[in-house]
Formats: sequence, structure tokens, C-alpha cells
Amino acid sequence: MIVLGIETSCDETAAAIVADDRRILSNVIYSQEAEHRAFGGVVPEIAARAHLDILDGVIRRVLDDAGVGIGDLDGIAATAGPGLIGGVIVGAMTAKAMAATRGLPFMAVNHLEGHALTARMTDDVGFPYLLLLVSGGHCQFLAVTAPGQYTLMGSTVDDAVGEAFDKCAKMMGFGFPGGPAVEAAARTGDAKRFAFPRPMKGRAGCDMSFSGLKTSVRQAILDLPGDTLSDTDAADIAASFQAAVADVLADRAAHAIVEFDEAHPDGKTLVVAGGVAANTALREKLTALCALVGFRCVVPPPALCTDNGAMIAWAGIERLQLGLTDDLDFAPRPRWPLAELSGAERSLPVA
Ligand code: KG4
Ligand code: ZN
Repeated sequence: MIVLGIETSCDETAAAIVADDRRILSNVIYSQEAEHRAFGGVVPEIAARAHLDILDGVIRRVLDDAGVGIGDLDGIAATAGPGLIGGVIVGAMTAKAMAATRGLPFMAVNHLEGHALTARMTDDVGFPYLLLLVSGGHCQFLAVTAPGQYTLMGSTVDDAVGEAFDKCAKMMGFGFPGGPAVEAAARTGDAKRFAFPRPMKGRAGCDMSFSGLKTSVRQAILDLPGDTLSDTDAADIAASFQAAVADVLADRAAHAIVEFDEAHPDGKTLVVAGGVAANTALREKLTALCALVGFRCVVPPPALCTDNGAMIAWAGIERLQLGLTDDLDFAPRPRWPLAELSGAERSLPVA
């Protein structure tokens, strides 16, 4: 079985073809960084127009790279939310049109489910597992028991962690997206120079908070003499900020692991997914934590942590295998929490 996946929910125009034996036959990501750079962030209207211009060519390329025709596909999956709605509509409509003209199954994939199931494609992870989803817009712990079955255990009470990386990067004068720039700067920095707070550390449960940490970074920058940050100051702030984030996430994960283990003693796996999972310091910290408590820590390779079409194709395969296809009148959703996927309208068909 091979499925085409289309991802257009933010500023990546991406498509991929994936097989049910977990092989990625082709994977193309066009990053719209250049289109948005001058604005210091993603402009939704520009993103939607760029997706419209670029998507056809990206799809043609993944078909060519994989050496398959549309007629060889077993289904077409596209992100149908959550995300910037203009872009989501472009991807979902393209997928529906292809599915309609070829009579192929269409899978309306939740973008977060794409991130959530990636580790099953890359590392053959079995259910149930504990998921830490860390991206630009989301930051939560979920218990994953099957495709479409997500139980929310804890989440950020303010900013998503990727958002905190992006905002701190902006304060330090780095470009967009900020996460990779902060990580690069942190490599030469002194993580002990600034004693940033560890919000929520030690608290019961596994909720998180990052806005206070962001405010401390702003204050530290203001307290430094002069109007411009030296490279050393920027590197030290980046390293100290990244260390605080990793510390907090490890503490919250330790709590989530205990809670998850009580409910699912057969799980023993932590999967980290979403763009921030590309961060090496975070991967190392969470891997060390898991080793201590006897959990397996699975983090997909960085290129499959940030937005891509392969994760959407894979989620499409998992849904198609279960008969969870969607009608062509499925309406794209700007907001679509993962926990809502277990709702009646998307539950398994009764045999
Ligand atoms: O999953 P993703 O590609 O898009 C969303 O669905 O949001 O995540 C993007 C987020 C951005 O906030 C970006 O700064 C962050 O992931 N990110 C990173 C790294 N690479 C991407 N954060 C920290 N370290 C990185 N290496
Ligand atoms: Zn994402």
C-alpha cells in the first residue's frame, strides 16, 4: 500500500509518498523562509498564496522521485487542520480533487496526529506510549493508545515551547524560525551564566509554563550594558535559556512518566515529537531521564520532527488500514485538538 501525504498547515509546502512497510519513497519540503523573512514571522496570506503556487510542482516531484503515477497510489492524505486555514484549505482541496478524479480514498489528517504517529514509521513503536508533543503552537503530554485515541495528560498553561524559542530568538536578534538559531548559538555559550527560572518544576502533575522564562530572558537582555548584544552574550543567553527549557521539560516528563506508567504499565516508551524535538540538548536530556527510569526514549530524526509530508502520508496509511477514510465534504479546521479525535464522529467503524 502506498499513500501520498500533503502538508501545508504553516510555512512548509511539503509532500511525500510512503509505503505501509514504513519506507519513505520520496519526500520533498519547500520551506517558504525566504517569502516570510522580511516580516520576522509567518504571514498567513503570503503562506496561502505560496502554497497555491508551489504545491502542484512539489506533488509532481514526489511522484517522479518515487517513480510512481497517480494511478499507483492507494490513497491520498492531507493535513486538514489545525493550522493557518488558508494553507490548510489549499492542501486539503488539492488532495480532495486528486482523490475525486481518481476515485481514491481521502484521509483528512490532523497535523498533530502526523507528529504523534511518526515514531511508529521511523522506529516501529507499539501502542500504548507516552507522547511529548512540542511544536510552535502546541506543548502537551498525551497517552496514545491507538490511531485517533489520545488522552490529554498535561499541557502548557501559556506559551508553547517552540513559541518561547521563537520569541527569545527574536529578542536576541536572530532570524525566523528561532529554534534552530538558538540551538546553534547555544553551542558555544555558557549555560550557567544566567540563572533563568524553571517554571512549574517540582509541581504535581505535568502542566508546563514558559512565559515567565521568556520574560526573564527579556529582562536579562535589558540589564546588559549597551544597545546591542555581543555574540558571547547572545550565546550565553541562548545556552542558559535552552538549559532551563530542557530542565523543565525533563522534570515535567518525569511526572508524566509516573502517571502514564500507573495507567499503562505495559507501555514503557516516551516518544518526543514536533519541531522542538529536533533540539539536540532536549533529546539528550530526555534520553538520559528515560534511561534512569527504564523507559525507551524515541525521537524521530530531526528532519522528520519538523513539518513534512511523510508524517501525513504515514498517518494516512494508519487510518486507511483501519478503514478510517473521510468524505470529500470534510471541512478544514483551524483549531482541532488531538483529544477530540476520539470523539464519536471519528471513532472506529463498528464491524
Ligand atoms: O512542528 P513544527 O515544524 O511546526 C509546527 O507545527 O509548529 O515546529 C516548529 C517549531 C518552531 O517554533 C521552531 O522554532 C521549533 O519548532 N524548532 C526548534 C528546533 N527546530 C525547530 N526548537 C528548538 N530547537 C530546534 N533545533
Ligand atoms: Zn508541526
